[in-house]
Amino acid sequence: MHDSIASLEERYRASSPRSRAAFERACAVMPGGAKGAYFHPPYPLTMARGEGCALYDVDGRRFVDFANHHTAQILGHRHPAVLAAIQEQLERGIALGAPVGVETELAEEMCRRVASVEKLRFCNSGTEATLHAVRLARGFSGRPKIAKFEGGYHGSHDAVEVSVSPPLDRAGPETAPHAVPNAGGMSPHAAEEAVILPYDDEAAVERLITQHRHELACVIFDPKAGILPQRPAFVQAVREITRTNEVLLIVDEIVGFRVGTGGLQESYDITPDLTTFGKIIGGGFPVGAFGGRADIMGLLDTTRGSTGFFQSGTFSAHPVAMAAGLATLRHLTPEAFARLNGLGERLCARLNDLFARRQTPVQAVGLGSLFSIHCASGRLATYRDLARADSAMAHRLFLALLEHGYFLSHGLVMNALSLAMDETHVDGLVEAIDRALASS
Ligand SMILES: Cc1ncc(COP(=O)(O)O)c(C=O)c1O
Repeated sequence: MHDSIASLEERYRASSPRSRAAFERACAVMPGGAKGAYFHPPYPLTMARGEGCALYDVDGRRFVDFANHHTAQILGHRHPAVLAAIQEQLERGIALGAPVGVETELAEEMCRRVASVEKLRFCNSGTEATLHAVRLARGFSGRPKIAKFEGGYHGSHDAVEVSVSPPLDRAGPETAPHAVPNAGGMSPHAAEEAVILPYDDEAAVERLITQHRHELACVIFDPKAGILPQRPAFVQAVREITRTNEVLLIVDEIVGFRVGTGGLQESYDITPDLTTFGKIIGGGFPVGAFGGRADIMGLLDTTRGSTGFFQSGTFSAHPVAMAAGLATLRHLTPEAFARLNGLGERLCARLNDLFARRQTPVQAVGLGSLFSIHCASGRLATYRDLARADSAMAHRLFLALLEHGYFLSHGLVMNALSLAMDETHVDGLVEAIDRALASS
């Protein structure tokens, strides 16, 4: 790529005057104009609408959407079955202050799909799901600390916002990472109560968990590590080490549940004690869920009197989100997953052929319908490996792809395909990346 960031951003500004005006207006009333994840220089596009696999911005341009709302839109935009389910629920009322039944149907569907989940509860986001799962693990075990992996993201509450993206000069030794708070204003106890584990290193994980076993309530673990899928032997070792040390294992399937009917845990053949969900199970609406062993989840059953535990929320199990999620899961048959994941494999294989042919230090890393494009060469398995990535190059490629009509997540990590796509969209993205690398 030869185009400078300055020239790409200049062309970006020229082609998106309405987005620019929308952003300036937003900045007057919202800090930074948009939530942090949406911002990228010079300003984010404002979208007017989505249809199938396409997004249309307020300047009238069309993009093929490979971001799919932070991976949550697995059927694509405005899927007719989801729209019908929402409409049907809306006609019965939006929120009725009582169970409506559809939440039970969705819970049954999820328990049927995920063998380790005997009981579950709904909440409003992935963040809430991990908050309640960690709290339950602490209460059940009577122990104060949690272990998490360096670079692992599990939402934005204090317990898990530790060592998510620590600066390397504060991160400590690779095999015994320091606990570094990720945001200002966090309780100092969050870092004190976190044990940080390195990915891809069974020996270090075993040593750290054994050392802290009497104070550890749980390990929270995303086996695809953002999108750096971990070796099956490593994932299974994490399960064995936690089991041997009698430490609960929470598997974070908030994104991973889109890889197959039984989620990541089925594909890695592990049985966690608790699991957290979000994203696709709400069909595009705010949602979260956590579930697992009946003896642990039973702490939330207060029908025979107080257990000392509690989980609630005005909008938890919101009927419209439940209806949209149920309609979505009903479309996610084994055949649908096979088609979608086949597209993901085709995309990564073709991209990596392209990068090899062009001898460009870029690689596609994927799992099922999820993929990241990392501007880095060599094996990538840990948070620290990713520190080598060239973020300026990722920004240039991101802007160049917008010019070619492709919308990916900024930074090019955590992209996802949808069932509204076929081979033409996948091959189109490969060609667009080829052109972007050649011309710019
Ligand atoms: C693995 C993982 N866990 C948890 C979360 C938090 O979910 P939410 O954004 O719904 O709070 C995310 C969000 O991207 C995630 O990727």
